[in-house]
Amino acid sequence: MPSSRSPRTARLPGFYRLGVAERRRRLLEAAGLASDGFAAIDPGALSIDAADGMIENVLGTYALPFAVAVNFTVDELDALVPMAIEEPSVVAAASNAARMTRPRGFSTRVAAPVMIGQIQITQVADVEAGASAVRAAAASLVADARRLVPRLAERGGGPVALDVRVLARTGPDGGVLVAHLHVDCRDAMGANLVNTLCESLADRVAQLAGGQPGLRILSNLSDGRTVTVTCSIDDAQLTSPEGDGPEVRRLIAAASRFAELDPYRAATHNKGIMNGVDAVLVATGQDWRAVEAGAHAYAARTGTYRPLAVWRERTGGLDGELVMPLAVGTVGGALHVHPGARLALDLAGAHSGERLAALCAAAGLATNFAALRALATEGIQRGHMSLHARGLARAAGATGDLVEQVAAELSALGEIKADRAREVLARLCSSHVVKDIP
Ligand code: MEV
Repeated sequence: MPSSRSPRTARLPGFYRLGVAERRRRLLEAAGLASDGFAAIDPGALSIDAADGMIENVLGTYALPFAVAVNFTVDELDALVPMAIEEPSVVAAASNAARMTRPRGFSTRVAAPVMIGQIQITQVADVEAGASAVRAAAASLVADARRLVPRLAERGGGPVALDVRVLARTGPDGGVLVAHLHVDCRDAMGANLVNTLCESLADRVAQLAGGQPGLRILSNLSDGRTVTVTCSIDDAQLTSPEGDGPEVRRLIAAASRFAELDPYRAATHNKGIMNGVDAVLVATGQDWRAVEAGAHAYAARTGTYRPLAVWRERTGGLDGELVMPLAVGTVGGALHVHPGARLALDLAGAHSGERLAALCAAAGLATNFAALRALATEGIQRGHMSLHARGLARAAGATGDLVEQVAAELSALGEIKADRAREVLARLCSSHVVKDIP
């Protein structure tokens, strides 16, 4: 049974100003977690033994900051969005962008969780005849494959179709075909499942085609397993010191068109999307390399690398839409062993692959919007530098109110440097200007 519920509200004003202990206390209430829930992300929560069972040649474990982005409403339900990431600004950017989409928030359409498994067949003498023979047997091959996964089929999943394409008529590998087995993986990402099914069918498919079985592996271009997420932001929310709402709206739409015109920009635009998506994937123990591979292959599927999200002006505001493949799961994979990943799913109230995919996509559209808004107006360096200044203040030993005081002085001096932070802190402490001496 899930140990959490969707929070009554993910709107938590001033959350970022609280200390870690108080943030945890607020979230225990908001997400209905067990009182020791956060032990799963305390240092050492992933034991060496557990780590040693996950990969080879283990020497230790490796920690990342774990946070939640707040303010998200996704498909009319509020959500705390867990993020594990080393890059400053991403959590704040996602939370700010999500606030601007309220009260409507993000709306998603999540396609059925159908993955493609590939079976390569080489040395096919007559590729047309071979492909026809495989096509003629497709229904029986799918039925056989379904019998291999009876429990998944009972839950509404399992193999659903098989098709075949000719890849080469002649060449170093002779005639080459590829059969695609389409498998509904329900709440699993599905890699193991799909690979096992492909391995089981390969000999029969090759025999039917009159060739040799080759690779049997899923495709990460899971272009049937897409999520579409949209949101709408009104001009009133867009107004900033750099311009009024309609002007900022126009600049963001122009930034979006820049990505549509230029693959060099599209790559960076998509990186801004993956900032949000990957942070959720890492926190929830997903195979983020698979999603990355799928996202970029999907972005290039027309032959030109394109932005995954676009922003369009409408009267009185801006509409954003992101479409991307998202092969994620809430069962299997690292989730058996990684305590932090389980906590992340509980915090997010994501107890189905569909909900998790929706939250990842919403996070991606949010960080994309935040990046474009900053880039189209003040630029991103100012925000980055003030976060950097806070980081240096903390590293110098500042706590409580001192963090902001030291950071503000560094910014005013225009010298965001570690030694300056130490000097400023020492001066503030000795002159008793502060409420809070570390
Ligand atoms: C930095 O991590 C991400 C951005 O470069 C994204 C973008 O340019 O859209 C700011």
